[in-house]
Formats: sequence, structure tokens, C-alpha cells
Amino acid sequence: MANPETLRAPVPAERMSRVKESPSSRVADRVREFRAAGRKVLPLTIGEPDFDTPDHVKEAAVAAIRAGETKYTSANGTPELQRAVTARLRRKTGQTYAPGEICVGGGAKQLIFLAFMATLDEGDEVVVPAPYWVSYPDMVTVNGGLPVVVPATADEGYKLTPERLRDALTDRTKWVVLNTPNNPTGAVYSEAELRALTDVVRDHPHVCVLCDEIYDEINYGARPVPSAVTVAPDLKERIFLVNGVSKAYAMTGWRIGYGAGPARLCAAVGTLQSQSSSCPSSVSQAAAVAALDGGREFVDRTVAVYTERRDLLVAGLAAIDGLRPTVPEGGFYVWVDASALLGSTTPSGKRVATDADLAEHFLDTSGVVVITGDSYGAPGHFRASFALSSEIIREAVAGLARSVESLRR
Ligand SMILES: Cc1ncc(COP(=O)(O)O)c(C=O)c1O
Repeated sequence: MANPETLRAPVPAERMSRVKESPSSRVADRVREFRAAGRKVLPLTIGEPDFDTPDHVKEAAVAAIRAGETKYTSANGTPELQRAVTARLRRKTGQTYAPGEICVGGGAKQLIFLAFMATLDEGDEVVVPAPYWVSYPDMVTVNGGLPVVVPATADEGYKLTPERLRDALTDRTKWVVLNTPNNPTGAVYSEAELRALTDVVRDHPHVCVLCDEIYDEINYGARPVPSAVTVAPDLKERIFLVNGVSKAYAMTGWRIGYGAGPARLCAAVGTLQSQSSSCPSSVSQAAAVAALDGGREFVDRTVAVYTERRDLLVAGLAAIDGLRPTVPEGGFYVWVDASALLGSTTPSGKRVATDADLAEHFLDTSGVVVITGDSYGAPGHFRASFALSSEIIREAVAGLARSVESLRR
């Protein structure tokens, strides 16, 4: 009989104490639990397009399967996808990237993770403006780095200012993360704002910029969304652009992202990929080529729909006393200041002290689920998605209005 002493499960490594499950995944599980219990939920938490992947993309994947494109590819992607990415980046930024300056991975998320893994030594600092996408700080800490969270206020349009950036930089700073359009606030950096930030970076030769542009096609202003590399092409060697097909082409489950930047970094990312997943899915890569080469019809059509939903949600939230929504310039989320409701009391006499208390009250009283501001490093807020039908948005707004009205302030 086996000795029970030898049957112990592996003990998680110390580094696991530095990472937690993504709040978005946790909330998605919560929504599933509520539904399983037969309760109606209105999930304003959705972080992916509710549209189906375009048909021509699906057809390209089927054709790839039929043609036997079902083997390992090179770690940093097929030549076809590298070409399609290069062409897209040339259209967007005017810059020409050589094949060695492109890497392809299982989503923008994996590429950001691998870029930190490839570059951070213990104690290296990464400037992360808040409100931030939930994953950046954990990705930094699990890879031995130190996130330096720099708040960006409503008055600053929730954007990092050059002054705050300058104050945050130290000898240990390796990266500054810029996410434009931003999740959760929808803020988009203008060319002038990017120029002011890259001017600061230029003075600090040891600092690089990681630009997460995953929402760049979903924007409600000037096209294309300005990119740091466009305003500061001389810093191309120190800028890592990250993007992918998930959001623009409703392809979240296909898991293809791409990065562009210094050849040494792309090679390091490829090495890590070769020792972990080998390469991204060959079939998904063929689909991504069709998406990137396929013209603007899908993007233009879906952005028109998002625009209507955005206006509907913003107007609905703005009409609720106690909520202050920001009109997003990109992405499909509305960032809402709910600080006026903290300190209020629910009908059952419970004090609403935190974002979590408020979210719980919304869920209990109207079935509306939101993601709390503290998850994004900005308590007193919540994020509401509009990657949902107008009917659901209307219902959720009516529910939130009832929930807020029932609070004693
Ligand atoms: C800001 C931001 N970056 C990256 C990602 C990940 O995208 P992908 O599906 O390409 O991994 C997300 C997804 O929610 C995101 O919001």
C-alpha cells in the first residue's frame, strides 16, 4: 500500500502568493453560479464582444484545417500571420517592422505576461497608471517585479500626466504601461498627450514603454487611435506594442495576440513560448490572417452598434442620482464614479462601506452585476460593460435606478 506521506499534493511555490485569480474570471464564475441557482442576472461584467466571429474568418479556419495546417508552427507565428501583422501595423503606425520584430502568442494577455517574464529581474519596477486593467499588477509581481501604481484622476481624464510619470521613475524602472483605449475608463491618449509622455521617457534611456492597444479598433473618435510609436518613432527600440484579434473581430476564444518591438525582446518571448506552449494554435493563426486582411466592414458595423449602446448606457447611468459615468472614447465599458453612495444604508440596515458592499447590494436588489473599482486600483467606482444587447442595457439601468433609490443616504 502506498505510504500516505508520499501522496501529498504539490505545495504551491512562494511566487503563487503574489498572484490571485483575475477578478473578471471570479465574477464570471459568480454569474454562472447565480444562473445555476435559477436567479436572473444582468451581467454588466462582460469583457468580450457579444457578436459572433465573422463568417470569412471561420471559413479561413475551416480551409486551414482541410489543407492540413494542423501542425506546430514557429514559436512566433506563421510567416503569413507575421506578414498580416506587419501590414496592419504599417497601416496604423506608418512604421515597418521586420519579421524578427514581431511576436505572436495566445492572446495579448500571454504576450504581456511573457514580456514581463522575459525582462523583469527581482525588484524591477513597472509604472502602472490606475485605473488599470486588472491583470497588470499581478503579472508584474508574479514575475518578480514591483508595480508602481500611479493614480490618474477624473480631472486628468484618468490619464497619466508627464509630471506624475516623471515623479514615478527611478533607476529600477523597466517599463511604463500605457493602455489606450483604456480598460476600464475608455480613455484614449491624444497625440499631444503621448508626445508629452514619450518626451519624459526619452530622458530616461533605461525605461521602455509597453503599449496595450487591444481596444484600438473600438473607438469613437479619430481613427486610427494614436500610438506612442507614431509620435516618437525614434523610441521604436524601446516601445513594445501589444494588440490582437480578440476584441476587434470578436475572436476572444481563438486566442491570438501579437506584439511588435525590439528584436531581442521578441526573440526572448519566442524562446519562452517555445518552452511553454511551443506556438499559438495553427488554425487560429490562419483565422487571424483572414481577420487582419479582411477589410473594415465588420469593425465599422460593430462600432456603429457599440456607439448606440454606449450612448444608451451613459445616458441611463447619468440620470441616476449618485452615479457619475464617464463617456468612453474607446472600448466597450463605462467607468462610473459611485463614491457618493459609499456610507449609505441598505433597506435591511446594512452600511455600504466598500465597493464590494455596493456591488452586493446591486446584485441582491436588481440582479445587476458590475466589477468593483477596487479591482482596477480605483475604489469608489465600478465598471459597466455595454457588450450587451440594448434590451439588457435598458433592463440593467432600470434595475440600478431601483437599487440606488432604495439606499438611505
Ligand atoms: C486591456 C486589456 N489588455 C489585454 C487583454 C487580453 O486580450 P487577449 O484576449 O488578446 O488576451 C484584455 C482583455 O480583456 C484587456 O482588457
